[in-house]
Amino acid sequence: MTVLKALALNGLLGLASALHPAHQRPLLHDDSQTQTQTQTQTQQQEITTEKPQISSEALQDTIRSDNLLARAKELYEIAKLSEDEFNHPTRVIGSAGHAGTLAYIYSALEKLGDYYTLSTQPFPAVSGQVFESRLVLGNSVPGSASPMSLTPPTKNKEPVHGDLVLVANDGCNADDYPASVAGNIAFILRGACAFGSKSELAGKAGAVAAIVYNYEKGGVAGTLGTPSPDHIATFGLSGKDAAPVLESFKDGRKVDGIAYIDAEVNIITTNNILAQTTEGDPDNCVMLGGHSDSVPEGPGINDDGTGSLTLLEIATQLTNFSVSNCVRFAWWAGEEEGLLGSDYYVDVLPAEENRKIRLFMDYDMLASPNFAYQVYDARNDVNPVGSQELRDLYVDWYTAHGLNYTFVPFDGRSDYDGFIRNGIPGGGIATGAEGVKTKDEAKMFGGKEGDWYDPCYHQLCDDVGNLNMTAWEVNTKLVAHSVATFAKTFEGFPKRTDGYAVEAKVEKKGYAKGVKYHGSKLFI
Ligand SMILES: *[C@@H]1O[C@H](CO)[C@@H](O)[C@H](O)[C@H]1NC(C)=O
Ligand SMILES: *[C@@H]1O[C@H](CO)[C@@H](O)[C@H](O)[C@H]1NC(C)=O
Ligand SMILES: *[C@@H]1O[C@H](CO)[C@@H](O)[C@H](O)[C@H]1NC(C)=O
Ligand SMILES: [Zn+2]
Repeated sequence: MTVLKALALNGLLGLASALHPAHQRPLLHDDSQTQTQTQTQTQQQEITTEKPQISSEALQDTIRSDNLLARAKELYEIAKLSEDEFNHPTRVIGSAGHAGTLAYIYSALEKLGDYYTLSTQPFPAVSGQVFESRLVLGNSVPGSASPMSLTPPTKNKEPVHGDLVLVANDGCNADDYPASVAGNIAFILRGACAFGSKSELAGKAGAVAAIVYNYEKGGVAGTLGTPSPDHIATFGLSGKDAAPVLESFKDGRKVDGIAYIDAEVNIITTNNILAQTTEGDPDNCVMLGGHSDSVPEGPGINDDGTGSLTLLEIATQLTNFSVSNCVRFAWWAGEEEGLLGSDYYVDVLPAEENRKIRLFMDYDMLASPNFAYQVYDARNDVNPVGSQELRDLYVDWYTAHGLNYTFVPFDGRSDYDGFIRNGIPGGGIATGAEGVKTKDEAKMFGGKEGDWYDPCYHQLCDDVGNLNMTAWEVNTKLVAHSVATFAKTFEGFPKRTDGYAVEAKVEKKGYAKGVKYHGSKLFI
């Protein structure tokens, strides 16, 4: 263990030097190479011409589950670097475990020489913590009250008191907020616009706290998203707990409330890591990503150690082959805080660079212990054209290997979101998180009906023992197939078009109709 710790710390130092401007080699402005670099590249090209052309079968043949398992064990040791601060292993952004993860990935890629051009992309990441919260409505404490992620605290981190004031319509317009909201608690129906917008409008109207109640019976565990100075302390509430309050309003009776949230929202800097093959057509890139971070609660070995390490293993094995199209790997940070790294990447990507990405493949959780082989149901009528062809590549592979698969919603829960909202075809595979395995799925994949696909999802027990190595190896071979296929040719794959299905642009930011997630949390 001490050896591993030392290794990880060495890696950290490596990252520090990698982050030094002199070592930074940004992907987007590659025209300023020094003579030495050019010479190295020429030598490299002489060597690479002797490499065999990429072939899917050959790349798949390099995938071995013991290589993957060895990497998972290293990653767990790295997560332990956070123990001093968190009392348990984690790779949450800002932790020593996450810094160690970045260092591990970066130094592994550095060892591959000039096959890749490496860069790190720093960006500001918001991270929030709720320490304590309480909500009292009239004489009762509703069990479903849950503070939104990234909520600010109540004033002075003290309880606030006020009448509940019903907001009109969906609470998506300033006009919906009656003057009596000022100094009181806004009671707002969920839907039509993001929780963050409702909190902001309530804040502007002078409310001391806000409650977003569900149109469905269940609770609302959501996030306010990007902080705004007008956000106020905001709770989600189930439709069931909201019903008696709404009854009282109907009868013209007042309901008062006490709201209390002790919370903190901080902005830190973290990094995406990018690696692009020096060989291959740079105007036609196949891009794939996983996320390097975990939640604070645990080490995140399945989520998304598996995706990150699959990418690293394939990036390593790919170096024995010559590619025709550029391959770009990404390790995103801040996924768990709401897809921060991938959103940032796509947001700052110039239009001409956007068009060079022919497709983006997302790999998040590939070895859930009670797995299903899940394929994102990406479709050309609602997603950028090409998404469906990618979906079918996964389907064809599972079918050819005699394996069952299921389609799962392509609804914004992982890092593909920013890509498809910005016109880049996307898709991916996964093995399941907190969803429940059905009876049919137990027949199709084995495992336990009625249990979560990953019973350790976002928990401390997401460690090495949480992985199903069979599923991981199978899926890593499929990821290898996806990389090799497009590294070789885009023949038959739709060309990028500037526009994409108009239906996907119903909202200003391009969120498709029906999309409720941004990351693992509801945002609308
Ligand atoms: C590449 O090929 C060589 C020669 O067959 C082999 O020794 C090596 O392990 C392969 N893999 C990597 C990642 O270099
Ligand atoms: C696929 O699912 C069917 C049930 O729908 C099952 O009988 C079959 O054994 C499964 N195949 C595999 C390879 O698990
Ligand atoms: C992983 O899944 C396979 C296929 O369903 C199963 O045979 C195996 O027992 C599982 N492994 C573990 C460690 O649960
Ligand atoms: Zn994840």
